[in-house]
Amino acid sequence: MRQLLVVGNWKMNGSRASVAALLESLVSAPAMAGPEIAVCPTYVHLPQVLSLCAESAISVGAQDCSHMQSGAYTGEVAPAMLADLGCRWVILGHSERRQYHGESDALVAAKIAAAVEAGLQPIVCVGETREQREAGEAEHVVSAQLDGALRGQVNLDSLVVAYEPVWAIGTGLTATPRQAQDMHECIRGYLDGIEGVAAGATRLLYGGSVKADNAAELFAQPDIDGALVGGAALKAAEFIAIVGAAAA
Ligand code: 13P
Repeated sequence: MRQLLVVGNWKMNGSRASVAALLESLVSAPAMAGPEIAVCPTYVHLPQVLSLCAESAISVGAQDCSHMQSGAYTGEVAPAMLADLGCRWVILGHSERRQYHGESDALVAAKIAAAVEAGLQPIVCVGETREQREAGEAEHVVSAQLDGALRGQVNLDSLVVAYEPVWAIGTGLTATPRQAQDMHECIRGYLDGIEGVAAGATRLLYGGSVKADNAAELFAQPDIDGALVGGAALKAAEFIAIVGAAAA
């Protein structure tokens, strides 16, 4: 049985005051018991968030990390540093990293290896663009991303995969539960063919305009094991309702 996991990806948002206000609501919400919950703020807010979540059931992750553990990599943050702070998760290969920072599957693979080495649990993002879906290439694109990121890795016991169709991110367009389930089933089948991945135990999150009013039907799908939530994770009531849908 896979425990549902709801992760808030706060992206490049927040101030010390807004982070404190959001977490004050989240840590005291009764609905927060049930699924596993994590939040991923910017690097600069991590110490504050870790401290505010310390006595709660909410775990904390980063939105990216370096592929190296130390050295002359100006502006980068090593996975070992994140683990040392107390982070548990790291989101890797998000489409915004691929799109705005030119991240390749090979770089995502190197980051996964470094994150696992440091003891972090990687949340690896895959997903096709609208053009790719319309061209009938969605499954091919996603399986190629999984292949590039995961093949040859050692120790993927803690792997989480997030399917985030690029056309559904921040657009208000959600994949239908059927579309999402179909792709998740395909991803699980593909993971089964990658050595070192326990496909049946790997949690597959859906991401892309997840909201309080569409979360329950997504979580009802057999291969959807939670959500990676962007915009709605910045609003306490929305995020608590999404977590509540996972707890139901
Ligand atoms: P939205 O929920 O804002 O569409 O963002 C999804 C996402 O990119 C989470 O990583």
